[in-house]
Amino acid sequence: MISLTRRSLLASASAALVIPALPRVARAATMPVLFVGPATAQIAPDGNNLTDVWAYGSESSAGTIPGPEIRVRAGERVQRRLSNGLPQPTAVHWHGIRIDNAMDGAAGLTQDPVQPGDTFDYDFIAPDPGTYWYHSHDRSWEQVARGLAGPLIVEEAEPWTGQDGAATREMTVMLTDWRLEASGAIEEASFGDIRDWAHGGRLGNVVTVNGRSDAELEVNAGERLRLRLINAATARIMPLRIEEHDATLIALDGHPVAPRATGQIVLAPAQRADIVIDCTGKPGSKAALMVDAGRNQWVQVAALAYSDTAPVPAIEGPVRPLPMTMDHALDLKNAQREEILMEGGAMGSMRGARLNGVESDFRQLVAAKRAWAFNGIAGDMENPAFRAPRGRTVHVTLRNDTSWPHGIHLHGHHFEILTRNGQPDAYRDRRDTVFVAPEEVVEIAFNADNPGKWLLHCHMLGHQVAGMRTWFEVG
Ligand code: C2O
Ligand code: CU
Repeated sequence: MISLTRRSLLASASAALVIPALPRVARAATMPVLFVGPATAQIAPDGNNLTDVWAYGSESSAGTIPGPEIRVRAGERVQRRLSNGLPQPTAVHWHGIRIDNAMDGAAGLTQDPVQPGDTFDYDFIAPDPGTYWYHSHDRSWEQVARGLAGPLIVEEAEPWTGQDGAATREMTVMLTDWRLEASGAIEEASFGDIRDWAHGGRLGNVVTVNGRSDAELEVNAGERLRLRLINAATARIMPLRIEEHDATLIALDGHPVAPRATGQIVLAPAQRADIVIDCTGKPGSKAALMVDAGRNQWVQVAALAYSDTAPVPAIEGPVRPLPMTMDHALDLKNAQREEILMEGGAMGSMRGARLNGVESDFRQLVAAKRAWAFNGIAGDMENPAFRAPRGRTVHVTLRNDTSWPHGIHLHGHHFEILTRNGQPDAYRDRRDTVFVAPEEVVEIAFNADNPGKWLLHCHMLGHQVAGMRTWFEVG
């Protein structure tokens, strides 16, 4: 049935091609298709019930969970013709890429949503190596929860893997969660539930790794592995660890860090971490990848499964750092100062906020499915939070005046974390998404060097739709 739907959609898409003169759109005949539509996947743990999902696939293959890994070298071009086989509009955002604004995929801000049966050509350069991902950016709170996410890996221009002290091999590990009914079906009734949105978001009850609830990541004794961890969940913060293995952190949100030992790794939604592990287990053994499901209840979500082959010689010595490629050129002395005050949510003190330009009390906000505000505005998008001239350093104070953690994401730029609660950050990590704990104040700074209109929002996607969103303009 799905293939029928697909075929008829492809037929109508190619019929549309004979209509001439779509302005300015040069359609490369060879552009690979990123098809998005209904599919089924084995998500539920019992192995019997397939789940109806929405998934990314290609022209020649049905959609998969996660979507097909897109892999290029730094500086290379990514081209995909999004072909929408969903029953609703969509758009693709290339999360973390310092992208040309028109290709950012923020439906309603940088492009019109792509209607069912329509296509949109994404064509951009991926300038910086790192672990990124792509996901729906229209009704993302629903579309990502139904499966619309995939890895986007930008390899170092000079291969790092295989160099002295580096990993011998790498693996992408995409984590997400699903809220399933006992039948294995996605729980539809909870989409759009303002009670979830006003709390921690629509949390799932099944965690998958690379689309499976029982994933086994095959490793060989002795090898040194780079794991590219991606949290694609719409709301779940994932504290992670691998039993019996020490991890060395080498990158966050794609950015190299000076290698440092790390115990548990906490990934807010949309965050990534690259870690290196030495596979010190015995052939045939297993080690659990654990996630804290909340209140320190660690559950196994996948396993490293050692092959039976004889150990390969271990790699001695410290982990080789990734090449530092990006120059941020921050000018903090002359920075433009901005503040984002986060308010609202359950157990918060927000009494009201502006909604559609009108001061509204909390009850009116909830009736309109809003529960959060940035700077007193509950998600209105008419005006930017700020404008910055191109090349200016912007220093943003993120003030979390709520009882909930948030993961704040800036489009089109990477920022440095300067302070937390007034204390200089020990690492000054560069990221595109920052975790801000309840009542915490985090200062970040970035070089506003990418012209255009860019979203700034909470990546807990229910928070985003319920008011935690704004935008800024560069140039
Ligand atoms: Cu991955 Cu607007 O976000
Ligand atoms: Cu949030």
